[in-house]
Amino acid sequence: MAIDNPQPKGSPFINGPRLLDRHRAMAQIGATANGGVNRQALTPEDTEGRRLLLQWATARGYTASIDPIGNLFIRRPGVRSSLSPVMTGSHLDSQPTGGKFDGVFGVLAGLEVLETLDDHNVATARPVELVVWMNEEGSRFAPVTMGSAVAAGAVPLERVLATQDTKGMTVSEALAQQISQLPPLESRPLGAQGFAYIEAHIEQGPVLEGARCDIGVVSAIQGLHLYQVEVLGFAAHAGTTPSKHRKDALVAANALIARIRSEVADPLDVLRFTVGRFEVAPGSPHVVPGKVTFSIDLRHPDPEHLLRTGDRILEICSGEIEHCSISAKALLRSSPVLFDERLVSVVLNVAESRGFAHMSMVSGATHDAKYMADRTPTAMIFVPSEKGISHNELEHTEDEDLCAGTQILCDALLVAATMEL
Ligand code: GLV
Ligand code: MN
Ligand code: MN
Repeated sequence: MAIDNPQPKGSPFINGPRLLDRHRAMAQIGATANGGVNRQALTPEDTEGRRLLLQWATARGYTASIDPIGNLFIRRPGVRSSLSPVMTGSHLDSQPTGGKFDGVFGVLAGLEVLETLDDHNVATARPVELVVWMNEEGSRFAPVTMGSAVAAGAVPLERVLATQDTKGMTVSEALAQQISQLPPLESRPLGAQGFAYIEAHIEQGPVLEGARCDIGVVSAIQGLHLYQVEVLGFAAHAGTTPSKHRKDALVAANALIARIRSEVADPLDVLRFTVGRFEVAPGSPHVVPGKVTFSIDLRHPDPEHLLRTGDRILEICSGEIEHCSISAKALLRSSPVLFDERLVSVVLNVAESRGFAHMSMVSGATHDAKYMADRTPTAMIFVPSEKGISHNELEHTEDEDLCAGTQILCDALLVAATMEL
């Protein structure tokens, strides 16, 4: 670890103990018995996390504002406040059995950069802005990266506001409920756009640890499709209905998943195929299942391969299987995204100057940076995840790696603040 190597000219050292204390405080909110967090989007826990962040930010005099989809912006003014900001950010929401670092790291690293600049009286021409994106995880309300997608204009606000959770509550209702629990915030219009956006995140996979690298210089994010499949059978009495009269939606769904898996199998193991949600109705032990709904999360770095595979899945998920009818729809078809080459080089150069072992990589997970990249030169910084574990309560990143990634974020944002991109 080389945190005390010569710093890029003019870039101050971050305050590691403060950063780590804040991680510990944030990890208390929605803490689970197994050491993770459950802070799903637009729940009281998510709001409590935002309140704590706002408390830290307003104590330093930063201004906070919120857009119509609930993205939160914290701004440190620049000398020339009319200039577009250099931005950073991530998310505070989690999966139901999420880890303490996914998203949180990027938010707290961003706040740490703002405060470091103040501690060292560093004035930047451009404002530096931290964003907390609404519902990155897409767990309670699907799909993922909801707030950044709306901010980028990739998805209409009205459609997202009408999205329901499994209990029938809409994003619009949950948003109104949760915003009322925050301190009063200035409203700002949709359309987050900056001069540059750099997001710090844990890797969530095993690559950096395996390569013994401290820093991942992320050049791209692989594509992600999300499908919802419905298998319709006929609910019947479990004790009286003979096999030949059954239309068992669960039996059919199992056969369907096995068929899809074997047809899309990738000998190179680059394609990622996951059925993460599986709902059986009516869900009684004594009723032959009448309906099954399940999700397919599909990812690949090659846009054509991803589209071809997605189309094939839609083809397979039509017609009938095991006497049950099948239908499917795409909830998200997001292509791979390449980051801005010059900004990626900035990250690479500052990692090099600090003497960190670094490597270039493509992100397997998706991030809000994907939508920012549509409108703003964007890059990402990764730090290692122990054993590659993420979306799991055991997710862990070493303190020194959190500090290293935050230092690189600080250095890179400062360079970006003085660049002509
Ligand atoms: C983000 O949380 C992802 O699932 O990639
Ligand atoms: Mn994340
Ligand atoms: Mn995540």
